[in-house]
Amino acid sequence: MIVGAQWGDEGKGKIVDVLSESFSVVARYAGGHNAGHTVIINGKKFILQLVPCGVLRTACRSVIGNGVVLDPVAFLKEVAALREAGLRVDGNLFVSNRAQVILPYHRMIELAAENAPGRVKIGTTSRGIGPAYEDKMGRRGLRVADLLDLDLLKRHIENAVHEKNMIAHALFNSEPLDADKMYAEYAAAAGKIAPFVCDTALLLNRALDAGESILFEGAQGTMLDIDHGTYPFVTSSSATSGGAATGTGVAPNAIQYVIGLTKAYCTRVGGGPFPTEDKSEAGQMLRQRGNEYGAVTGRPRRTGWLDLPLLRYAKMVNGLSWLVVTKLDVLDELAEIPVCVGYKVDGKKMVEIPAQASGYEKLECVYQKMPGWKTSTVGLTEFGQLPKAARDYLAFVEKETGVNIGMVSTGPDRDQIIVIDDFAKEVQTASSPKG
Ligand code: IMP
Repeated sequence: MIVGAQWGDEGKGKIVDVLSESFSVVARYAGGHNAGHTVIINGKKFILQLVPCGVLRTACRSVIGNGVVLDPVAFLKEVAALREAGLRVDGNLFVSNRAQVILPYHRMIELAAENAPGRVKIGTTSRGIGPAYEDKMGRRGLRVADLLDLDLLKRHIENAVHEKNMIAHALFNSEPLDADKMYAEYAAAAGKIAPFVCDTALLLNRALDAGESILFEGAQGTMLDIDHGTYPFVTSSSATSGGAATGTGVAPNAIQYVIGLTKAYCTRVGGGPFPTEDKSEAGQMLRQRGNEYGAVTGRPRRTGWLDLPLLRYAKMVNGLSWLVVTKLDVLDELAEIPVCVGYKVDGKKMVEIPAQASGYEKLECVYQKMPGWKTSTVGLTEFGQLPKAARDYLAFVEKETGVNIGMVSTGPDRDQIIVIDDFAKEVQTASSPKG
């Protein structure tokens, strides 16, 4: 399983793409089209939002699990773009009949609520993710199976639109949505989605029974997890490894390894705590060299330095077996690289991660300056080719987190990657057919 160890955007798309070569199935378990996975193959760029990156490998089946919130319109748009790019989606891509559906009123309510006076502004991706998960937990959501049941869909839309229009008008003075128009659009979408829909929990468990291997593709990151992240500045799903079991219907004891992804530095989009944020020129340099602009919204990402206390936390809540470090080459030109090695509050060492945003404000980061390497690492594929200072930087991260590094990404392309031998062997064992 692959999880983001920071606030998302760690480069999961590329790493899932590289690893999916060895796996039979790739499964998404949480989030929706708020995610943006960028994969570059032979210089051609693919941005995947809902569809797992496994779709880029013909031998791999891709599953959108029950823990995902699916926007039918966004899904069909992505499918059309993939077909156009000549990729095989039909018969290769499966959507859970238990996944929740995002409808236009989710977006309407989210947009209005984000801008309402007195509300905490989260800086969401405005995709309706939060309100769709609210309806799921409120047991008034529409699932993909219900979308295909046109009588039920009609009744659901009539009732829900009536209710949501009243709420949105009363609270935010929003313009009402038209139920008939919505039904016509979503009934048409249902017909096109139907061929992809099945009981994906059954599909995945049958695959395991047949000795096949599954790669779980996390979206967002640990610090955006609804429970373990920087609440309320989080997304509305379980982005951490625990979400993979509930979000797919595969039991936790069937999951062998958890691979945590971290950039060689740190970024976040949207509001909320970011202890190592650097708003100076150095932070801007990271944004420029790392091309740190949101894949989905185009927003400039906030940038800062590697935060080891947060990585240790990510190790704890996810049970990380390996780390993968991405974008090492972005640090190439620096003479010195600050790394946060600990937190202090009122001059005293603090090991706990705050439960409240206000707790983060009191934190003082303790930095250690690591020597830079000032040479290009772009495209290197062997660990031994890395300059000594870069190897020392990575060794320091391993020592401080207690997690070994399995891969280091040295550029955006599929081939710009260093794979450590022990890691390659373990992936090989985990993905080879059993039984
Ligand atoms: P939502 O997921 O659209 O509700 O947004 C909640 C927060 O999560 C905002 O700060 C978003 O910027 C952030 N977020 C959601 N998805 C991603 C992602 O894939 N990468 C980075 N940040 C994300």
